[in-house]
Amino acid sequence: MHQLSLLSFLPLAAAAAAALFAHDVSSVSVKHERRHPVVPDSIDKAEFPSLLDATLEDLAGGLETGLFRSVDLVEAYIARILEVNDASRAVREINPDARAIAEEMDAARTMGTVYGPLHGIPILVKDNIATADKMETTAGSYALVGARVPEDSTVVRNLRKAGAIILGKASMSEWAGLRSWNSSTTGWSPTGGQGIGAYLDDQSPSGSSSGSGVATSIGLAFASLGTETSGSIISPASYNNIVGIKPTLGLTSRHLVVPFSSHQDSVGPMARTVKDAAYVLAAIAGPDPKDNYTTAIPFPTLPDYVAACQLSALPGKRIGVLRSTFNSSLGQPPYQSILSTFNSALDTLRAAGATIIDDISLPSTAETGVPWPNDIDITSIDFVRDLPTYLSQLTHNPHNITAVADLLAFTQRDPREDWPNRDTVKWEMALASAANTTPEEFWKAYTQSLYLAGPMGISGAIRNHSLDALVAPTITTHFLPAAWGSPVVTVPLGAMDADTEVTRERGDGLVVTAPGMPFGMAFLGERWSEEGLIGMAYAFEQRTMVRRGLVPRVRPRVELGDVLGRRERVELPLH
Ligand SMILES: *[C@@H]1O[C@H](CO)[C@@H](O)[C@H](O)[C@H]1NC(C)=O
Ligand SMILES: *[C@@H]1O[C@H](CO)[C@@H](O)[C@H](O)[C@H]1NC(C)=O
Ligand SMILES: *[C@@H]1O[C@H](CO)[C@@H](O)[C@H](O)[C@H]1NC(C)=O
Ligand SMILES: *[C@@H]1O[C@H](CO)[C@@H](O)[C@H](O)[C@H]1NC(C)=O
Ligand SMILES: *[C@@H]1O[C@H](CO)[C@@H](O)[C@H](O)[C@H]1NC(C)=O
Repeated sequence: MHQLSLLSFLPLAAAAAAALFAHDVSSVSVKHERRHPVVPDSIDKAEFPSLLDATLEDLAGGLETGLFRSVDLVEAYIARILEVNDASRAVREINPDARAIAEEMDAARTMGTVYGPLHGIPILVKDNIATADKMETTAGSYALVGARVPEDSTVVRNLRKAGAIILGKASMSEWAGLRSWNSSTTGWSPTGGQGIGAYLDDQSPSGSSSGSGVATSIGLAFASLGTETSGSIISPASYNNIVGIKPTLGLTSRHLVVPFSSHQDSVGPMARTVKDAAYVLAAIAGPDPKDNYTTAIPFPTLPDYVAACQLSALPGKRIGVLRSTFNSSLGQPPYQSILSTFNSALDTLRAAGATIIDDISLPSTAETGVPWPNDIDITSIDFVRDLPTYLSQLTHNPHNITAVADLLAFTQRDPREDWPNRDTVKWEMALASAANTTPEEFWKAYTQSLYLAGPMGISGAIRNHSLDALVAPTITTHFLPAAWGSPVVTVPLGAMDADTEVTRERGDGLVVTAPGMPFGMAFLGERWSEEGLIGMAYAFEQRTMVRRGLVPRVRPRVELGDVLGRRERVELPLH
């Protein structure tokens, strides 16, 4: 079924495309004739932005001038997904209403109504971000197939208000990576299959926003949303050569997002450029009465994250380097090319007018006398407490799963969940930990980790050295901003060099280091400092433009010119 629908579409020769285009133009309504005043004899494909790298401004510009419509964009992205999804497993489901929504957006635009910069622009969301439409929200698990939510998650509602089209659900590591101990392959889920990274054969997509990272990188949508508890946006962004923003805890609502940890979860954009990520952040951020962490937002009106994208954002900035957290681990194989590329990037920042303070070391736990509370895992205890809150909001709960214990039983019972080959040890540990930890012990562990990650970590370093930001290679920076709830912006930095040893997850799994593996640079800041970080990341990106130098392993061939005006429709085989 899948193959057939592909074959019926893909061999669109230029002549056939031109014929389809001409046919369509002759039959469209007046409004489209107005929008295509000159009927070309044949399609000049060079006119259309390449969907591998198209920015929001490219896409919105084409919609504005009538070069193409939102339905064309949706058609092109669906065709691209169908073309490469077998090889990437980046998308779990395509929205069956995407075309109809695109038609509404086109009609609104024709009538002069544009909801915002994302009007008519297709976006994917991670499969743990709920939509009250025909799509499932599974977090990768059959436990949630068939479940219904009372309304859209707030971030999706915000995207729709901004005019964005929810094109589909991106695949993810099941339960955001919280399930298996002995076999938790990154990017795998029972409902989504095994995601593969965008750049190398057998590449780990990283996770847990694996599909969001891969799909955005190879142009299966304009951009995507991911979620991060500890590294789950910035790591797949880094491994797939794109930009990711992990916002301050509370800047974006988690209402109707399948939880991992209320103390750490954050929803954020994954896009191909910093400015595109800023557009998406501007659309989704803001207070929400349904997530009281958002009451911490300190701004009467949010900063203008898009206007923050200025080349002049670097001169005069003081940027600290968290050298002690990575210098020795990245100083040896297979990571040296990350360290040397990072060191050269510091020269780029200096040349752009920033001052680099390269000797920032954080007080060790021995010096502070406060041990990291390793024995109490805040996030997995949170999962035991937060999952029932999400499940209690379902309007249909097909397996009557109300708590982690039910989920564990379901997962061990349903063969599609691949148990016991993939175990459920993390839940067993979480349940035991939640049962054996008193509220006092939990609070003490939580406040200790906050103190070490904040005053003794990120915010202490920023204050002591009067910094505007900290930088580090992205693969080394998950933990502190996760624990402190502070933002990270990751930007493409380079690819591992030809000498890099090939290493795999757990020895025999997907590739995690190899020649050509992309990696990123992270800009970290104090809570609520997204505006400043976005500016610095943009100015760095514009001076380096690393992304366009790397060529993905799978490149969908369908472009806007191939689908423009095509009337025949591709079936949707993905479920
Ligand atoms: C925030 O909301 C949660 C759930 O809605 C509730 O349990 C908690 O008490 C609230 N916290 C505050 C500080 O209002
Ligand atoms: C970082 O590591 C390099 C070797 O890779 C070493 O030469 C340098 O002194 C180290 N710098 C610091 C600040 O530790
Ligand atoms: C779930 O609970 C409802 C009401 O108690 C019951 O009718 C239904 O059969 C249950 N479903 C399953 C799968 O256990
Ligand atoms: C994972 O652990 C389970 C339970 O101990 C075991 O049955 C299974 O074979 C293990 N799988 C792998 C891939 O090691
Ligand atoms: C900041 O400076 C104070 C005073 O020198 C020191 O005790 C503290 O450890 C420093 N904190 C960080 C995070 O560097």
